[in-house]
Amino acid sequence: MCGIIGYIGNKQAAPLLLQGLRRLEYRGYDSAGLVVTDNNIFDSVKSVGKIDSLAEKLKQREMKGHIGIAHTRWATHGGVTIENAHPHFSADGSIAMVHNGIVENYRELKGFLGDVSYKSETDSEVLVNLIARFYEGDLRTAVEKALQKVRGTYGIVVMHKDNADCLIAARMGSPLVIGIGDGEYYLASDATPLLAHTNQVVFLNDGEIAEVCRSGIQTYNLKNEQIVKCVEQIDWDDAKAEKQGYDHFMLKEIHDQPTVYEDAIRGRIDLEDGTAHLGGLNMTPEQMNKVDRIILIACGTASYAAMIGKYAFERLAGIPTEVDVASEFRYRDPIINENTLVFGISQSGETADTLAALREAKRKGAFIRGIVNVVGSTIARETDGGTYIHAGPELAVASTKAYTNMAAILLLYALQFGRSRRLSIATGQRICKALLEIPEKMGKVLEQKDKIKEIALKYKDYKNCFFLGRGVNYPVAREGALKLKEISYIHSESYPGGELKHGPIALLSAGFPVIAIITKNQLYDKMWSNLEEVKARGARVLAITTEGDEKVKELADDVIYVPETMELVEPILNTVPLQLLAYYVAVSLNRDVDRPRNLAKSVTVE
Ligand code: AGP
Repeated sequence: MCGIIGYIGNKQAAPLLLQGLRRLEYRGYDSAGLVVTDNNIFDSVKSVGKIDSLAEKLKQREMKGHIGIAHTRWATHGGVTIENAHPHFSADGSIAMVHNGIVENYRELKGFLGDVSYKSETDSEVLVNLIARFYEGDLRTAVEKALQKVRGTYGIVVMHKDNADCLIAARMGSPLVIGIGDGEYYLASDATPLLAHTNQVVFLNDGEIAEVCRSGIQTYNLKNEQIVKCVEQIDWDDAKAEKQGYDHFMLKEIHDQPTVYEDAIRGRIDLEDGTAHLGGLNMTPEQMNKVDRIILIACGTASYAAMIGKYAFERLAGIPTEVDVASEFRYRDPIINENTLVFGISQSGETADTLAALREAKRKGAFIRGIVNVVGSTIARETDGGTYIHAGPELAVASTKAYTNMAAILLLYALQFGRSRRLSIATGQRICKALLEIPEKMGKVLEQKDKIKEIALKYKDYKNCFFLGRGVNYPVAREGALKLKEISYIHSESYPGGELKHGPIALLSAGFPVIAIITKNQLYDKMWSNLEEVKARGARVLAITTEGDEKVKELADDVIYVPETMELVEPILNTVPLQLLAYYVAVSLNRDVDRPRNLAKSVTVE
């Protein structure tokens, strides 16, 4: 996710663009840049690092121009370099563009454009050159023609050096909002930077293009049909706007999940062949077939995503798979050889325990790959390949969208290995279909947030609780317990459902609730028996179960329903109600939800 901003009016643009970038820094912070013009010449500056680095460069020069665009980057394609920082320019230098999103078919478009000299590794630079290819004097028409050839997501603002009177904006999958000032207009990825100037806004919808000129705004669809947009008034304060209207980053990121999950799987699922294509694996078919053991190394929430991967690799690919907590890995003298594939799984890509474990695995000759969120992070750079999970910046300390995206990528890897071995096309297609249905099904769970909020109030005063799950839902129980404990400070433990009777059940009583995942799968009856043991001790039960299961009300005091899906894919859905439960319990206890005590977002010490 990146932050983009544009300005056209009667003030100097550069200071306003910089101010806007600062309000968008939470959307991405690995590089930034801006460009202004007044006289048919672009004046541009870029920097690597946070917005402060760009501000320092701006102090060294005076940038004149009453129109301009700016961008703060969250890298998805290409490392963190000045060349990859936005704005990007067409090869002839006539058009400038800032882009938030992923152009899925950028390689194909590069082929269409033929002999063009690129300065960066980004998909965005291909797009601005495609616009230039179609430019014949009218920028909006050129943008429209280019976007008709694009597959993927974009929020873009484009300007031509010979036209200081208009900006062109377009949206597909990445937000874009236009602020209407007094004789001036702002464009931004969200309302955050606009609030300092106006509360009158126009929200662009997917497939819409806006021509924003000093004389006013015209909006069109991609078929060159003019459309009427209403001006809305936003009454957020700055803090609320930074979270796009949510009270906390954690709640925003929980709701980001359907969208960023689509970013994670986009272009990587092959429904026709029932397989996945994760090019970053960087292994030949021969190397893939030699793999006889997989080790998934991670910490915390990432390790629970890894547990889902274990079930997937063993069930789909028949490859023995272990999950190792990174801090323990090096000290157990792991048996590793040239046929061992080791994945380091990490949102930040900087976790010291995970990095150290990967270095040890590399020393012992394993294939080492990364599954990370932050592009260009240390783990991404030190592994010999891997996959970015495209979850966008995750700012809340409690990981949510990164976890579900990690699980999705691990399922895709298991599918890719499985289909290169014995997995049938029919089973592969069923898995692809189940994965493709997730965003809509996640949305159905998120629609229950008010009900989950009510349930949370019934559990907020307990001092202890158990989370139970079996099979693929045991990792869900692990993650649910971690979410609750790390943001509400309620002592919560997780167990495989069948383990309770071997000791932990001694703790159960009326004041010790149990939160259980009991969805309709092969272990439903076993889980039912475990919950009967729980009820017999008088404990309150909250059940996460499959839509339509009325029978579970015989055991559960509270029920949250989730849509049915394939068993292996369940954890991606079943975790979402537990994220919301933890969030609403913590809020009801007035906890610092985004910055819980004692914790840090990235643990870069061992
Ligand atoms: C999860 O909510 C915690 N923030 C923590 O367990 C985290 O998952 C762990 O520290 C691993 O971080 P990483 O994914 O950045 O490596």
